[in-house]
Amino acid sequence: MQMNDQAKARLGGMMKTWDRRKKITSNLNRINSRIAVYSGKGGVGKTTIAVNLAVALAQLGNKVGLLDADIDCPNADKLMGVLQRPRYVDGVLHPAERAGVKTISMASVQENEEEAIIWRGPMITNAINQFLEMTEWGDLDFLVVDLPPGTSDSPLTIMQTLQLNGFVVVTTPQDLAVLDAKRSINMIKKMNIEILGVVENMAGDIFGKGGGERLAKDLDVAFLGRIELSKEFASFGADLAVLKHDKARKRYQAIAEGVISRLAEVTPAHEISTVPS
Ligand SMILES: Nc1ncnc2c1ncn2[C@@H]1O[C@H](COP(=O)(O)OP(=O)(O)OP(=O)(O)O)[C@@H](O)[C@H]1O
Ligand SMILES: [Mg+2]
Repeated sequence: MQMNDQAKARLGGMMKTWDRRKKITSNLNRINSRIAVYSGKGGVGKTTIAVNLAVALAQLGNKVGLLDADIDCPNADKLMGVLQRPRYVDGVLHPAERAGVKTISMASVQENEEEAIIWRGPMITNAINQFLEMTEWGDLDFLVVDLPPGTSDSPLTIMQTLQLNGFVVVTTPQDLAVLDAKRSINMIKKMNIEILGVVENMAGDIFGKGGGERLAKDLDVAFLGRIELSKEFASFGADLAVLKHDKARKRYQAIAEGVISRLAEVTPAHEISTVPS
């Protein structure tokens, strides 16, 4: 029987999708743990925590990548202080590296950084898939993913596409922020992804202190640490906190150690892949 053109095209499309999935799976298989930093509320310090956590993990001797999955408002590369753009050679995207962290952000492939991009569901999946397909991360111990805020389509789609191993939830100490964080944690629980713990950010005289720790206790998840509201913990770019300030380095490294030990607890032994280090 002869295949008509329509059937041939459909088959071609299916094979392309299949090839793409295979490539993504083989790329993801070279990454031991994919962890996302998330909060229901915007502006609580996800990107700050994600970037410093990624560098702290590298300082502890791990191979680390950072994926800025906030494709509406990408800024992780700026906070990280990555100066070069990724190299794009023969269809492969080679991330730029700083402080031992390979970083990919939509901003680094955007022509004009002030341009707003409006993404809709399938486009988000497509963009993230394309990043996952094209990026040559090599073998990584950790991929830290900086997520956009909220419980809308975009973070949900990204969470599913990335096949995450666990979440770090960021909250500020105030009651209202904690309530939002509680909502996010409950959403994550519904998706059956592990919560590695809570980081309380911006603690101090202005927003108070202790909300994140109480939340962790309430929901029976780990409390990973507290970061004060201060320039020392939030300096970025050339002066990235974890690289420039001893106190910040110690604190972010303690959070990184907490993440590592929680991951070991929640990952069944047979699923710990053996990425050569
Ligand atoms: N501990 C801190 N002390 C002082 N400033 C901080 C601290 N954490 C974050 N900031 C500042 O607060 C602002 C928001 O932080 P950041 O961009 O990390 O938040 P976000 O949750 O990623 O925001 P968005 O939801 O828009 O992605 C930034 O200007 C950042 O420098
Ligand atoms: Mg952010």
